[in-house]
Amino acid sequence: MSTDTAAPLVLVSNRGPVTFEDDGSMSRGTGGLVTALTGLASHRDAVWIASAMTPADAKRAQEAGGRPIDIRTPTGGEYQVKLVASDAEAYDGFYNIVANPMLWFIQHYLWDLSNAPDIRRHEIDAFDYGYRVVNEDLARAVIEEIDGREHPVVMVHDYHFYLLPALVRAARPDVFLHHFVHIPWTQSDAWRVLPNRLREEVFRGILANDIVGFHTRSYRRNFLQCCEDLMGLEVDHEAGVVRYEDREVWVRAYPLPIDARATLQVARSARVRQFETELLRRRRDHLILRVDRADLSKNVLRGFSAFDLFLEQHPEFAEKVTFVAQLMPSRTDVPEYAEYLERIEALVAVVNHRHGTPDWMPIQLKLRDDLEEAVAAYKHYDVLLVNAMFDGMNLVAKEGPLVNERGGVSILSENTGAHEELGEFALSVNPFDIQELADAIHSALTMGEGRRAERLDGLKAIVTERDPGDWIDEQLADIRKKAGVDLGPPVG
Ligand code: G6P
Repeated sequence: MSTDTAAPLVLVSNRGPVTFEDDGSMSRGTGGLVTALTGLASHRDAVWIASAMTPADAKRAQEAGGRPIDIRTPTGGEYQVKLVASDAEAYDGFYNIVANPMLWFIQHYLWDLSNAPDIRRHEIDAFDYGYRVVNEDLARAVIEEIDGREHPVVMVHDYHFYLLPALVRAARPDVFLHHFVHIPWTQSDAWRVLPNRLREEVFRGILANDIVGFHTRSYRRNFLQCCEDLMGLEVDHEAGVVRYEDREVWVRAYPLPIDARATLQVARSARVRQFETELLRRRRDHLILRVDRADLSKNVLRGFSAFDLFLEQHPEFAEKVTFVAQLMPSRTDVPEYAEYLERIEALVAVVNHRHGTPDWMPIQLKLRDDLEEAVAAYKHYDVLLVNAMFDGMNLVAKEGPLVNERGGVSILSENTGAHEELGEFALSVNPFDIQELADAIHSALTMGEGRRAERLDGLKAIVTERDPGDWIDEQLADIRKKAGVDLGPPVG
């Protein structure tokens, strides 16, 4: 259903809401963001433009002849998806060299200044003939979509498309561009590892937006400071405004909530119950859980080292506690990620060998992405470990407490976006301090029932305050305020 009076809306993200399989079938992305944006798209005259990420996606895009594909939502709504297949080599440079690891590392302070990754001809070429080309491909698709339409609104997602806004603005100066960055925005010195020309292009690209949104006030602050330090621009820190080329760019914080209703529904499903039965059959007295993509920013190795230290310092917990780590392999064509997985497996083997007994394996490593299996474990953990070095938001920190039934304690890195909202009711840790992490595991496992329940109730209250529909509405309200554009009724 679209609202005829509303402005045309285009959403842009690298990973789209649906993926096609070789047999022509389609699977939907999960998570609050996809749900929220799908809700937005299906209630408006909207097209969602995304990269074709698999050969089957590219085939489907080709069959569609460049036209948008109609998608029905599970709730009977409808929206359109346009998949853009870029040249394979260009896409490889875009995804596996520039977006990850280059920009991802810069934006999580993962760049090892004394070591690789270096920037040489290869990386510069990947920027010029990969990252820029894919940005141009999707920009072209956006421009085509809004051609002949009045007051178009384009909402761009994440670090894959920093160049796209300037390309769209050049073709359509009247467009309203809103860009949400889902990962941290680091302080200005972290950006100095990017060659000056590339850095300037990134900033000129993102400053072509009318509004730039982040998960937290601290990323917003860093972005404003970068505009001053690296671009020499006039910035109003209080108001969150950057003046750039006779325009005002609004910089805002909109923390992403989880879809509590949907997560609770998954928690009641039969498949989750099956996983629970299995989990309870094998459980020891205590369960520590982590659920993450196998990403360097998640700090998985230090988490295992802390558990190792905890077992060494508290031998009374031997055979009484299991650490379940559900890690989804990610970006495995990037050498740093492939190597990270190997290091994870090696460390798990060492810790299990050091402390394990014939019928107790201290760490259970599950290298897969299974939402129901994760949700089953969420219900029964005693400790949820979220110790990311830096993390844009971290939705696991919100989903876990929502469904937990055991007074589970959250250990939460102070460098996650979620910490700005949840810190008060979690055990906050400095993710680099392994001893502090080991102590936090001990405090969590020995905490009295009353204090555990109090903390968990506090977390549950916060994570159910807003939902992804509210998150979208907050952004639409700012778009309305800045542009006077009507995008139809609220989503939340
Ligand atoms: C982060 C990013 C998203 C990205 C996701 C998974 O959450 O903010 O843009 O889609 O990681 O990464 P992937 O490379 O698999 O899309």
